[in-house]
Amino acid sequence: MHTYNRFPVVLRKGRGIRVWSADGKEYLDFVGGVAANVLGHCHPKVVVAIQKQAQRLIHVSNFYHIEPQIKLAKLLVTNSFADKVFFCNSGAEANEAAIKLARKYAKESHVQHHNQDRFEIITAINSFHGRTLAAVTATGQEKFQRGFEPLVPGFKYVPFNDFNALEAAITKSTCAVLLEPIQGEGGVKIPADDYLRKVRALCDKHEILLMLDEVQTGIGRTGKLFAYEHYGITPDIMTLAKGLGGGVPIGAMLATEKVASGFKPGNHASTFGGNPLVCAAAIATLETILEDGFILDHCNRMGGYFIERLEQLKEYCEQVVAIRGKGLLIAMELTRDGMPIVKACLERGILINCTGGGNVLRFMPPLTVEEKDIDHLVEALDELLGKSL
Ligand SMILES: Cc1ncc(COP(=O)(O)O)c(C=O)c1O
Repeated sequence: MHTYNRFPVVLRKGRGIRVWSADGKEYLDFVGGVAANVLGHCHPKVVVAIQKQAQRLIHVSNFYHIEPQIKLAKLLVTNSFADKVFFCNSGAEANEAAIKLARKYAKESHVQHHNQDRFEIITAINSFHGRTLAAVTATGQEKFQRGFEPLVPGFKYVPFNDFNALEAAITKSTCAVLLEPIQGEGGVKIPADDYLRKVRALCDKHEILLMLDEVQTGIGRTGKLFAYEHYGITPDIMTLAKGLGGGVPIGAMLATEKVASGFKPGNHASTFGGNPLVCAAAIATLETILEDGFILDHCNRMGGYFIERLEQLKEYCEQVVAIRGKGLLIAMELTRDGMPIVKACLERGILINCTGGGNVLRFMPPLTVEEKDIDHLVEALDELLGKSL
């Protein structure tokens, strides 16, 4: 169906940060499968893990225990705040699961104030949480919701990074707050250093859940395994997808033991969620990232270098309004529409993305990107921004 405005390119092969089209043209990929390809294309460890698992067992059912799923869950809980994991297939599904768990936990827990039914979830304006009906309702952007009404009841929106607005929005019906630690689709918006700490304290005070959508920011993208680690807090629920599988479709919803107890057998499920094949790919991806911290250090160094180069460009280019980023989730806000730049980059063999209302160029290369790749992109941007495209 015509749900995408695709570029006129057929991509056939990839290695690291490079992809090749069917007609043999080489591209430097700074879209990275929209932040999914954390290790680049066809990383050997991920490829071998998929090959081996495909020969052993591809799919069974969650009626039975699955060895790679157990191993992946252990890796995730060992390296995060969480005690429990639910596996699904995408970011939207992970958020859908989080929304359902928040409602169920509120119904079952003993923290209900005055026996009031607690179901309301507060999210941020300009957030992005996915396209299923509840996830798109949680998404604080009307353009994604228009035409799909009636939306799911029980959502409320406040400006991101505005603590007072959030505090004022909490009522006796509120059961959770759902936020991206850094807004990705919204244009790489980074909150004040103390925002999430204050939100955490507010949630504790009112006994409501803090749910972080780390679908885009998680799995090393911002230079730490999870973005919440930058802010000295932990959430009650976290959602993951994108980078988790190194390119294969897998999502996960993680929670503390206490909150996870809101779900009982039969409350939620997914046929493919956490199947042997995708878990094997995710284990290889996570283990590679966690190995002696090399990739996270590299991501931080390259992120710093990338931002420095873009800042230099900003100094003399009037079309550049701001540079924002953490790790290798980086944006350049322009005074103009970014799409002609995206198309001109494509012609030169560089893939970039444009978001945040159309005037923000967003870069999400593999965490293994090298200085020379960044130089190549920045030189192209420098030249293109000087032209009247
Ligand atoms: C923060 C965030 N949440 C959720 C999603 C939805 O993920 P998916 O497309 O896998 O459903 C996205 C996708 O861009 C995202 O950036």
